[in-house]
Amino acid sequence: MKRENKRDHFSGSFGMIAATVSSAVGLGNLWRFPYLVGQNGGAAFIIVYLFFSLIICTPIMVAEFTIGRRGKGAPPLAFLNLTGSRKWAGAGVISMLTCVLILSFYNVVGGWTVKYFFNSVFLQYREGAVVDSAAAFGQFVTGSATPIMYFTIFMFISAVIILAGVTKGIERTSKLMMPLLFVLVVLVAVRSITLPGAGAGVRYMFKPDFSLLDRRAVLVALGQAFFSLSLGAGLQITYGSYTRREDNIVRNSFVSSVSDTMFAILAGCAIMPAVFAFGINPGEGAGLAFVTLPQVFTQMPLGGLFSILFFFTLFLAALSSAVSLFEVVVASMIEMWEMPRRKAVLIAGGIIFALGCVCSLSQGVLGDFRILGRNVFDLFDFVTSNVLMLATSLLVVLFVGWKLKKDAFMDEITSSGDVKLPRWGGLAVFYVIKYAAPIVILTIVLTVIL
Ligand code: PHE
Repeated sequence: MKRENKRDHFSGSFGMIAATVSSAVGLGNLWRFPYLVGQNGGAAFIIVYLFFSLIICTPIMVAEFTIGRRGKGAPPLAFLNLTGSRKWAGAGVISMLTCVLILSFYNVVGGWTVKYFFNSVFLQYREGAVVDSAAAFGQFVTGSATPIMYFTIFMFISAVIILAGVTKGIERTSKLMMPLLFVLVVLVAVRSITLPGAGAGVRYMFKPDFSLLDRRAVLVALGQAFFSLSLGAGLQITYGSYTRREDNIVRNSFVSSVSDTMFAILAGCAIMPAVFAFGINPGEGAGLAFVTLPQVFTQMPLGGLFSILFFFTLFLAALSSAVSLFEVVVASMIEMWEMPRRKAVLIAGGIIFALGCVCSLSQGVLGDFRILGRNVFDLFDFVTSNVLMLATSLLVVLFVGWKLKKDAFMDEITSSGDVKLPRWGGLAVFYVIKYAAPIVILTIVLTVIL
């Protein structure tokens, strides 16, 4: 493994934040968050979610950036550089594998977004159109060749961006996509909230129902916060290694996680009020975006236009996150095996494509193949967000809190005093990393398992 490498860098704080937020804002916000809120107690869930994302997860994000910038590498190399130990480098390899598993199902859903975007462009969801969206969705995802074709298109686009490299590929596209995503989701949210009868949806999102908030719901909130902020997958370790010394990683982490959380809430406001305004059942779960919304659009004035805006948003959000996950894998391979970027993209892409085909087919012909009662798609989803991301984050916080220790941490976040940051702020973040984060992660995981 190469210890000294010449790295590409983000050109400044805006580039760093744009890339981080583009990674964070994804299917997690638009596809998962709104229905999880609905199923787990509305505002009660949001309050727990806000607590986790701002108080616990943002410091974990800082910890990841610290490891990446100080260790000058994607996860395996960063841990190796900081410790000289192959065991710790192994922790980095787990992050990389986590990304491979997430991508396997994420790209499949990415393919669905391409298909639905095309459908909307062909005005299938215009006002007054008749669609049996549940049947259409079922038929599409259980098929074999068609969903694989769409997911291939999706993967191809993300590979092209990755091939262009960090500054020219990831940073440039993120700077474009991130503001666009916000504008689009605000447009759709304004349309949704101003529909007659939208109030019921707003209440559904924001009225707390603590009776639905059981232990499982708390774990779901934590898992969702991790997934949505792209934690525990080595993402910020990798992006930290592209971050310049003069950038303030604590401030940028807070800006990124507040933006991501705002986006999730905006996505809820874009979806739920419209669903309620047309008296459709919101408990659709994972089918909310692909089954419920097409129905909503066909009943909405200018529904055709809003369906294009919505599915384009969903596509962009999924794409920018998939790109970031891909980068972790590719950067790790480049550093571990000293291979050119192009070769790493081909090899990693091949493996992810093969696993993705299995995930896609597990919705249809491979549906009876079950492990732990789940098909491969659900298994990868469950194992990554409820096990691997939490386990990796635990390693990250234990590493920064107990192995790297306070002085090195303070030195890194202030860039040896060059970055102005109130000392109490840095210390508060450190103590959350050292004590609160491991305790919260362990307690929640254990109470659910036991
Ligand atoms: N945060 C992304 C989302 O919300 C998913 C993701 C997870 C991306 C981990 C990168 C790393 O969809």
